[in-house]
Amino acid sequence: MARSSEAISPTAHYTGYAWFHHGMSHEALVTPQGRLLFNALRPLSKLAQVRGRPTAEGFLLARHRAMDGLLEQAISEGRVTQVIEVAAGFSPRGWDFKRRHGSRLRYVEADLPHMAERKLQRLERAGLLLPGHRVQALDALADSGPMSLSALADRLDPAQGTAIITEGLLNYFDRESVRGMWRRFAAVLSRFPQGLYLSDLHLARENRTESQRAFARMLSAFVRGRLHLHFSDSEEAIAELRAAGFDTAGIHDPRQLPQVGRTQPGAELVRVVEARTGP
Ligand SMILES: C[S@@+](CC[C@H](N)C(=O)[O-])C[C@H]1O[C@@H](n2cnc3c(N)ncnc32)[C@H](O)[C@@H]1O
Repeated sequence: MARSSEAISPTAHYTGYAWFHHGMSHEALVTPQGRLLFNALRPLSKLAQVRGRPTAEGFLLARHRAMDGLLEQAISEGRVTQVIEVAAGFSPRGWDFKRRHGSRLRYVEADLPHMAERKLQRLERAGLLLPGHRVQALDALADSGPMSLSALADRLDPAQGTAIITEGLLNYFDRESVRGMWRRFAAVLSRFPQGLYLSDLHLARENRTESQRAFARMLSAFVRGRLHLHFSDSEEAIAELRAAGFDTAGIHDPRQLPQVGRTQPGAELVRVVEARTGP
């Protein structure tokens, strides 16, 4: 397994607690590590907020709400009835969408084996796993084999509109790995009548000032690896998504999405990818 895959797990704990702290998650998805990290960094975060500087909470909440809003819209318009959340970590989205949409939605959470196992145990123990909600081991870098996205998609209904989501994943991988993931995602989604891909993405152009770069360095140190800013701007990212096989692609600024509401400093650092296959 790539070293970066293991190293980025601590942030999943932090994010899991941040969602819970802001009333967006369930206690069952909170870990002691997440609570500890969040509370340890809270004074710094508060100070930055007072000074109008970017905070992790600012972009974490904005990206999550933006992606929730876009997924909700696709479901309500009948474009999507199946969701694969790749590298789900402690994301509450599967639990939240299943409790609201019930049997109308099939939801698969996927992550590396150790994380998938932990997530499954937590959901099961708290009685949060409804029929049609699964947690499965997957390696987003695998082209084939039992851990690949292609194998996971074999178990879904090929006649249903399907979404793939990645959150907090792309910027830890180099450009070639992201290209590979996008090619795999587009190929898998093309097997369904309509495909939707949602992801957060940090672009170089929106991360230029000294305080923004300092923030990126802090995050890199936290995950013991480099944060990659693969694309300079939206146009470059859209061209890559089209080259990977998506029929249409757009990049949203979460601050401009009506579903997101009020944002904190830091929201300006993140963008949200919405790419589609099919008509
Ligand atoms: C930074 S966390 C993000 C988790 C969650 N989506 C969030 O926003 O907090 C990254 C997640 O990616 C998972 N991950 C890392 N490499 C992966 C890979 N190659 N395939 C699938 N998941 C991977 C980790 O196990 C971890 O749960």
